[in-house]
Order: sequence, then C-alpha cells, then structure tokens
Amino acid sequence: MRQVRVLGLLGTGVIGGGWAARALYLGIDVVAMDTRPEMEAWIRGAVENARGTLSRLTLAPLPPEGKLSFTTDLEAMARGVDFIQENVPEQLELKQRVLAQASRAAPADVVIASSTSGLLPSDLQREMTAPERFLVAHPFNPVYLLPLVELVGGQRTSPAALAAAEHFYTEIGMHPLRVRREVPGHLTDRLQEALWREILHLVNDGVASTGELDDAIVYGPGLRWAGMGTNLVYHLAGGETGMRHMLRQFGPCLKWPWTKLEAPELTETLIDRMVEGTQAQAQGRSIRELERLRDEYLLAIQQVLKQFDLGAGSTLRGLEERLYARSGSRASAGIDQALAARTRGPVRMLDTYVRPEWIDYNGHMTDSRYLQVFGDATDALFRWAGVDDGYRESGRAMYTVESHVMHRAEAKALEPIHVTTQMLELDGRRVRLHHCLHRTRDEKLLATAEQLYVHVDTRTSHAAPLEPSVHARLDELRVAHAGLPSPAGGAARSNANRNG
Ligand SMILES: NC(=O)c1ccc[n+]([C@@H]2O[C@H](COP(=O)([O-])OP(=O)(O)OC[C@H]3O[C@@H](n4cnc5c(N)ncnc54)[C@H](O)[C@@H]3O)[C@@H](O)[C@H]2O)c1
Repeated sequence: MRQVRVLGLLGTGVIGGGWAARALYLGIDVVAMDTRPEMEAWIRGAVENARGTLSRLTLAPLPPEGKLSFTTDLEAMARGVDFIQENVPEQLELKQRVLAQASRAAPADVVIASSTSGLLPSDLQREMTAPERFLVAHPFNPVYLLPLVELVGGQRTSPAALAAAEHFYTEIGMHPLRVRREVPGHLTDRLQEALWREILHLVNDGVASTGELDDAIVYGPGLRWAGMGTNLVYHLAGGETGMRHMLRQFGPCLKWPWTKLEAPELTETLIDRMVEGTQAQAQGRSIRELERLRDEYLLAIQQVLKQFDLGAGSTLRGLEERLYARSGSRASAGIDQALAARTRGPVRMLDTYVRPEWIDYNGHMTDSRYLQVFGDATDALFRWAGVDDGYRESGRAMYTVESHVMHRAEAKALEPIHVTTQMLELDGRRVRLHHCLHRTRDEKLLATAEQLYVHVDTRTSHAAPLEPSVHARLDELRVAHAGLPSPAGGAARSNANRNG
C-alpha cells in the first residue's frame, strides 16, 4: 500500500471537513470532492474554523500545512490520491454506488475507507473493484480533535489494507481501534445509542429534562470517562477485589428493570421535549459558539491527559514524539550530509511554520515563540550529537545559559520558516551556537539568536564535562564551521568571555 501524501475526500460535509482539517494540519494534501460546488466554500471555512484550536494542539515541529483543492469530479479525485475517505450521507445504496465508482477509478493499491457510523463493511464493499482494500474507518466529531477511529474490515477486506489504514491514521495523530468483527453500529455507537435510548425514555416518561440528564453525565461519569472507561471505573468501584466484587454486589441489579434499552416511539411530544430542552441548554448560543467552546475544552483536556499518559493524552504524546523524532532525523540527515559533502556553512536544523496562535497584537510572531523555535533547532542539534531522552535520564543535560535574540523582519501567520545553525565555539563543557531564522519562501532573514549552553550534571546542578562521544560529534561540526565568518550580534559571546 502507498505512503499517503494526498488524501481524497468523497463528501465534504461535517465529517469530510473534519478529516480535511486534521490531514492538512499534519502536512497531507487534500483533494475534496462533493457533488455540490458550494461545498468548496464550506470546507474552506470549516478548515479555517478548526485551525485556531488545532494550532494550539502541540508545540512539536509540524511539517508545512498541506494544500486543499476541491472538485466535483469523483473520478478525477479518485485517480489522483493515495487514500480515499468516504463521507457521504448514511444511506447504504448511495454509499455502495459512490464507493464502487471510486474503486473503478482509483488504482488497486489505494485504500478506500468509509466513515459510516454503523453500516457493515461487507455490505459496502459488495460492488467494488478490488474490494480487499476497503474498510470502515469510523471517526468522531470533531474529527480534527478526537483521536478515536474505529477500524472494521468486511468479509473481503485484506489484513494489508487494515494494517495500512492503521498506520495512516496513527500518522495523523489518531487512535485506531480495531473492531474484531463487523456488527451494526460498530462499538462506540452501540454504546452511545444505549445511553441515548435511556435518555429518550426518561424524557418521554417525564422523569427528567435533557439538561438534567446531561448534568447526570457531565458532573460525574463524564469526567471519569476521559481517562478511564466504564470497565476500569467499575473495577475501582469494587474496592480491593475489584470487578469480581463489583459484579457480586451489583450483578443482581442487572435483573431489575433499571434500563429499558428498546427505544420509545418518537412521538411529536417527545421530539418537542428533546428540541426545547436542548434549546434551553444552549442559552441562546449559536452552534458555532458551542462548537468553539467544545473544541477549547477538548484541547485542554488532552493537554492534561498528556501529563498522565492516559487515553487521548497518550495519543497526543505519541504524535509529538513522532514529530520531534521526524524533525530530529531530518536535521541529523542534513548535518551528516553537510559534513560528508564538506559544505562550509550553517546547517538547516528546523523547518516549521508560524502558527496563528503565535501571533501577537501587532500581527507578527510574538517574542517568546522565537526562543521556542530556536530552542527546537538547538534540540535537534543536540539530539544528533547524542543528547537524547536516554542521555538526560542518565543525569546529564544541556542548560541554556544565555540567549541573545535580534529581530530583523516580521514573521506572519502561516508562513513557512526555517532555522540554520552555525557552531561558534565548543570546549569541554560549553557550546555556543548562532541561529538564523529565515522565511522559507524567499530566504529573508527574520531573526538571529546567539546562545550559550553548558553541560550540567543534573544530580548536582553543576557544570560537568561533556560525554566524550557527544563532544566528538559536536567537534565534527566545530571543525566544519571553523573559519566561517563570525556573525553579527555577539552579546552572549562577550558575556561568556567575561564570565569564562
Ligand atoms: N456527523 C457525525 O457526527 C458523524 C460522526 C461519525 C461518522 N459520521 C458519518 O459520516 C458520514 C457523513 O456524515 P456528515 O455528518 O458529514 O454528513 P453531511 O450531510 O454533513 O455531509 C455529507 C456530504 O456528502 C455530500 N454528498 C451527497 N451525495 C454525494 C455524492 N454522490 N458524491 C459526493 N458527495 C456527496 C453532500 O453534499 C454533503 O456535503 C455518514 O456516513 C455519517 O454516518 C457522521
């Protein structure tokens, strides 16, 4: 199966828009296809709306944002992409028809996945050419922030297609959950619908309003669910003997009529109660406003969960590790290449772009982000030299002693930027670097930084000699850069000399 550089979207409504935002954010180009030409403006708006929140998901160095294009020609889309995600309305015959059409146009090594909420993959792949590359990949709204995607193979799906899809979704920061056997509603919608049926009964029977039932989740179980699912939570509820005790204690209740499950009749009265209830809960806020609120707290929760390496936080942590490793290995390859070719000049250490969130009230990149970008470049250099997590865990690290930043030109939102680095000095304990931040489009110099780092034994918090292997690596770069013209802006150097 292919390396996915271009994602094709078949249907660009709520879910198609979410897929587009996620893929573009992680550097994948998107060709969006919808029968309605007006959906082009819609999907561009959806991507724009998502960008604000997404830009704060991680500080890890991201690839340049992917490019979005739009077409109403299904076959042209299918011919030109590496992976197709179908998101048309939940109607079996419609999905069968468009999937068959896409499969006739797309090369056989292009995986085709459906976002269906509950249809069976075996039914969907029935009319397809090369049906073995088809699977269900069911995401959750908003697709750009929620990592869960349920992967379900049909009778004719190949293990290779499932593996390729799992790899792709992981790469775009998701948590693929393999569903062992196709069942209507997959796993999550089956669970969600059970809860929803009970809600409809309780509203129908006049027991509670929609708001009270939402409170019954939000103030209690909902908070637990972000980090632990029902089963682990019940295991804790059973005390020392866990789930066994829990089942012994509450098992008999399962025979009592606590739940009804079979949905009630959707009468006009019930529909009115549901609609009026949720309108009251919205308190006059528009769907857009509520979406923004939802996105903000989903973002914040994931940052918190990251600290505990739990659930969606764990997925985010994995994404960040890959982004840092990728940026680090790109930088390492660049340094090795420059040394091998005896290129005598600063080395490209980092490629990223200015996130909208980094912009201050002047419309330019805010001061602290310059240090962050230069810090990421330094990090890439030290990783190359062997100062990685293992090194730090052994009680040694590089500490920043001085930074001298000079601003030359403005960095604007979404502009691709890169950092080149020159080694100025190296001794047994200290490294002095000079970074240049460039606008990638025209190489314009935006800022420079001269920084002094000292190698520290973190157990004693005192300067300590560099590990010989790290020193030897860094020395290769020092030798390569010896004799290069000394860049301007030497405050860190003058202080270093005074102190040293
Ligand atoms: N909305 C959710 O919360 C959610 C969550 C997970 C999965 N899903 C699933 O995702 C799919 C799409 O749902 P949605 O909420 O985005 O629907 P939607 O109605 O917002 O979007 C569907 C889009 O498909 C387009 N379309 C219709 N016929 C088409 C055709 N023949 N070719 C190309 N485009 C066509 C429509 O113009 C529309 O833009 C459904 O299968 C749904 O079950 C939805």
